[in-house]
Amino acid sequence: MDAYNTMLARRSIRKFQDKPVCTEDIDKMLRGAMSAPSACNKQPWEFYVVTNAELLGKLQTSSLFSRYKSPCIIVVAGNKKHCITQKENDFFYQDCSAAVENLLLVATQLGLGTCWCGLSPMKAPADKVSQILGLEKHIVPVALVHVGHPAESKEPRTQYNEKKVHFFN
Ligand SMILES: Cc1cc2nc3c(=O)[nH]c(=O)nc-3n(C[C@H](O)[C@H](O)[C@H](O)COP(=O)(O)O)c2cc1C
Repeated sequence: MDAYNTMLARRSIRKFQDKPVCTEDIDKMLRGAMSAPSACNKQPWEFYVVTNAELLGKLQTSSLFSRYKSPCIIVVAGNKKHCITQKENDFFYQDCSAAVENLLLVATQLGLGTCWCGLSPMKAPADKVSQILGLEKHIVPVALVHVGHPAESKEPRTQYNEKKVHFFN
Protein backbone atom coordinates (compact mmCIF):
# COMPACT_ATOMS: atom_id res chain seq x y z
CA MET A 1 0.00 0.00 0.00
CA ASP A 2 1.40 3.43 -0.87
CA ALA A 3 1.53 6.28 1.66
CA TYR A 4 -1.66 7.97 0.40
CA ASN A 5 -3.74 4.80 0.56
CA THR A 6 -2.29 3.93 3.96
CA MET A 7 -3.54 7.30 5.24
CA LEU A 8 -7.03 6.60 3.94
CA ALA A 9 -7.03 3.05 5.32
CA ARG A 10 -6.06 4.15 8.83
CA ARG A 11 -9.21 4.16 10.95
CA SER A 12 -9.78 4.05 14.70
CA ILE A 13 -10.20 0.41 15.67
CA ARG A 14 -11.77 -0.26 19.05
CA LYS A 15 -12.25 -4.04 18.93
CA PHE A 16 -9.23 -6.33 18.95
CA GLN A 17 -8.52 -10.04 18.66
CA ASP A 18 -7.08 -11.81 21.68
CA LYS A 19 -3.70 -12.18 19.99
CA PRO A 20 -0.39 -10.51 20.91
CA VAL A 21 1.42 -7.99 18.72
CA CYS A 22 4.85 -9.40 17.79
CA THR A 23 8.00 -7.61 18.90
CA GLU A 24 9.14 -7.03 15.29
CA ASP A 25 5.95 -5.08 14.59
CA ILE A 26 6.32 -3.06 17.80
CA ASP A 27 9.89 -2.26 16.78
CA LYS A 28 8.78 -1.09 13.30
CA MET A 29 6.06 1.13 14.77
CA LEU A 30 8.55 2.75 17.15
CA ARG A 31 11.10 3.29 14.38
CA GLY A 32 8.39 4.89 12.22
CA ALA A 33 7.24 7.05 15.14
CA MET A 34 10.74 8.30 15.87
CA SER A 35 11.31 9.24 12.23
CA ALA A 36 8.72 12.01 12.68
CA PRO A 37 9.64 15.68 12.35
CA SER A 38 10.02 17.68 15.57
CA ALA A 39 10.66 21.35 16.30
CA CYS A 40 14.43 22.00 16.22
CA ASN A 41 14.70 18.21 15.92
CA LYS A 42 14.45 18.00 19.72
CA GLN A 43 12.67 14.60 19.55
CA PRO A 44 11.11 15.29 22.96
CA TRP A 45 9.17 12.04 23.02
CA GLU A 46 9.17 8.94 25.20
CA PHE A 47 7.33 5.69 24.40
CA TYR A 48 5.97 3.35 27.06
CA VAL A 49 5.06 -0.02 25.54
CA VAL A 50 2.74 -2.00 27.78
CA THR A 51 1.80 -5.65 27.25
CA ASN A 52 1.63 -6.61 30.94
CA ALA A 53 -1.96 -7.75 31.62
CA GLU A 54 -2.32 -6.02 34.98
CA LEU A 55 -1.04 -2.67 33.67
CA LEU A 56 -3.16 -2.99 30.52
CA GLY A 57 -6.25 -3.41 32.69
CA LYS A 58 -5.38 -0.30 34.68
CA LEU A 59 -4.57 1.80 31.60
CA GLN A 60 -7.77 0.78 29.85
CA THR A 61 -9.78 2.44 32.62
CA SER A 62 -7.61 5.55 32.86
CA SER A 63 -10.12 7.56 30.83
CA LEU A 64 -13.83 7.11 30.16
CA PHE A 65 -12.99 7.17 26.46
CA SER A 66 -10.22 4.58 26.29
CA ARG A 67 -11.97 1.51 27.68
CA TYR A 68 -11.03 -0.87 24.88
CA LYS A 69 -9.50 -4.29 25.42
CA SER A 70 -6.26 -4.43 23.45
CA PRO A 71 -3.15 -6.63 23.80
CA CYS A 72 -0.76 -3.68 23.62
CA ILE A 73 -0.88 -0.03 24.65
CA ILE A 74 1.78 2.48 23.67
CA VAL A 75 1.75 5.68 25.70
CA VAL A 76 3.49 8.55 23.93
CA ALA A 77 4.72 11.27 26.26
CA GLY A 78 6.52 14.59 25.99
CA ASN A 79 9.75 14.94 27.96
CA LYS A 80 9.95 18.53 29.21
CA LYS A 81 13.70 18.18 29.80
CA HIS A 82 14.21 17.56 26.07
CA CYS A 83 11.83 20.15 24.64
CA ILE A 84 12.46 23.75 23.64
CA THR A 85 10.83 25.85 26.40
CA GLN A 86 10.16 23.37 29.23
CA LYS A 87 6.71 25.01 29.41
CA GLU A 88 3.28 23.41 29.19
CA ASN A 89 2.49 25.07 25.82
CA ASP A 90 5.66 23.82 24.15
CA PHE A 91 5.91 22.31 20.66
CA PHE A 92 6.20 18.87 22.27
CA TYR A 93 2.47 18.36 21.75
CA GLN A 94 2.88 18.71 17.99
CA ASP A 95 6.09 16.65 18.01
CA CYS A 96 4.44 13.81 19.91
CA SER A 97 1.36 13.99 17.69
CA ALA A 98 3.50 13.67 14.55
CA ALA A 99 5.14 10.60 16.11
CA VAL A 100 1.74 9.13 17.02
CA GLU A 101 0.40 9.55 13.48
CA ASN A 102 3.51 7.88 12.05
CA LEU A 103 3.04 5.02 14.51
CA LEU A 104 -0.59 4.59 13.41
CA LEU A 105 0.39 4.59 9.74
CA VAL A 106 3.06 1.92 10.21
CA ALA A 107 0.54 -0.15 12.17
CA THR A 108 -1.95 0.17 9.30
CA GLN A 109 0.70 -1.00 6.83
CA LEU A 110 1.31 -4.02 9.07
CA GLY A 111 -2.40 -4.89 9.13
CA LEU A 112 -2.75 -3.84 12.77
CA GLY A 113 -5.54 -1.75 14.24
CA THR A 114 -5.00 1.25 16.48
CA CYS A 115 -6.99 3.77 18.46
CA TRP A 116 -5.42 7.08 19.51
CA CYS A 117 -6.84 8.17 22.87
CA GLY A 118 -6.02 11.66 24.05
CA LEU A 119 -4.43 12.32 27.46
CA SER A 120 -2.82 15.72 28.29
CA PRO A 121 -4.12 18.46 28.25
CA MET A 122 -6.98 16.48 29.86
CA LYS A 123 -5.61 16.51 33.41
CA ALA A 124 -7.48 13.62 35.02
CA PRO A 125 -6.59 10.84 32.53
CA ALA A 126 -3.04 12.17 32.11
CA ASP A 127 -2.49 12.14 35.88
CA LYS A 128 -3.95 8.66 36.12
CA VAL A 129 -1.63 7.31 33.40
CA SER A 130 1.36 9.01 35.08
CA GLN A 131 0.45 7.38 38.36
CA ILE A 132 -0.07 3.90 36.80
CA LEU A 133 3.27 4.02 34.95
CA GLY A 134 5.13 5.88 37.72
CA LEU A 135 6.14 8.73 35.41
CA GLU A 136 8.23 11.60 36.75
CA LYS A 137 6.86 15.17 36.77
CA HIS A 138 8.74 16.27 33.63
CA ILE A 139 7.11 13.49 31.55
CA VAL A 140 3.73 14.55 30.12
CA PRO A 141 1.60 11.71 28.70
CA VAL A 142 0.03 12.99 25.48
CA ALA A 143 -1.54 9.92 23.89
CA LEU A 144 -2.54 6.39 24.80
CA VAL A 145 -2.55 4.23 21.68
CA HIS A 146 -4.30 0.88 21.66
CA VAL A 147 -2.64 -1.55 19.25
CA GLY A 148 -3.77 -5.00 18.19
CA HIS A 149 -5.03 -7.29 15.48
CA PRO A 150 -8.37 -5.80 14.46
CA ALA A 151 -11.67 -7.53 15.25
CA GLU A 152 -13.65 -4.98 13.25
CA SER A 153 -13.10 -3.45 9.84
CA LYS A 154 -13.76 0.05 8.61
CA GLU A 155 -13.79 1.49 5.12
CA PRO A 156 -10.91 3.70 3.96
CA ARG A 157 -11.99 7.29 3.44
CA THR A 158 -10.59 10.80 3.02
CA GLN A 159 -13.15 13.15 4.69
CA TYR A 160 -12.05 15.69 2.05
CA ASN A 161 -14.08 18.89 2.40
CA GLU A 162 -13.46 21.67 -0.09
CA LYS A 163 -14.93 24.22 2.37
CA LYS A 164 -11.90 23.70 4.58
CA VAL A 165 -9.45 24.63 1.84
CA HIS A 166 -8.53 28.30 1.35
CA PHE A 167 -6.47 29.19 -1.68
CA PHE A 168 -4.58 32.44 -2.14
CA ASN A 169 -3.60 32.38 -5.79
C1 LIG B 1 -6.08 13.88 19.87
C2 LIG B 1 -7.05 12.74 19.69
C3 LIG B 1 -7.69 12.22 20.79
C4 LIG B 1 -8.58 11.13 20.63
N1 LIG B 1 -9.14 10.58 21.74
C5 LIG B 1 -9.93 9.49 21.62
C6 LIG B 1 -10.44 8.84 22.79
O1 LIG B 1 -10.18 9.25 23.92
N2 LIG B 1 -11.20 7.73 22.61
C7 LIG B 1 -11.50 7.25 21.37
O2 LIG B 1 -12.21 6.23 21.28
N3 LIG B 1 -11.03 7.84 20.23
C8 LIG B 1 -10.25 8.94 20.34
N4 LIG B 1 -9.72 9.54 19.21
C9 LIG B 1 -10.05 8.99 17.87
C10 LIG B 1 -11.08 9.85 17.15
O3 LIG B 1 -12.35 9.68 17.76
C11 LIG B 1 -11.12 9.43 15.68
O4 LIG B 1 -9.86 9.67 15.10
C12 LIG B 1 -12.17 10.19 14.86
O5 LIG B 1 -13.47 9.87 15.29
C13 LIG B 1 -12.06 9.89 13.34
O6 LIG B 1 -12.21 8.50 13.08
P1 LIG B 1 -11.04 7.65 12.39
O7 LIG B 1 -9.85 7.66 13.32
O8 LIG B 1 -11.59 6.28 12.20
O9 LIG B 1 -10.69 8.32 11.10
C14 LIG B 1 -8.84 10.60 19.34
C15 LIG B 1 -8.18 11.14 18.23
C16 LIG B 1 -7.28 12.18 18.40
C17 LIG B 1 -6.52 12.72 17.20
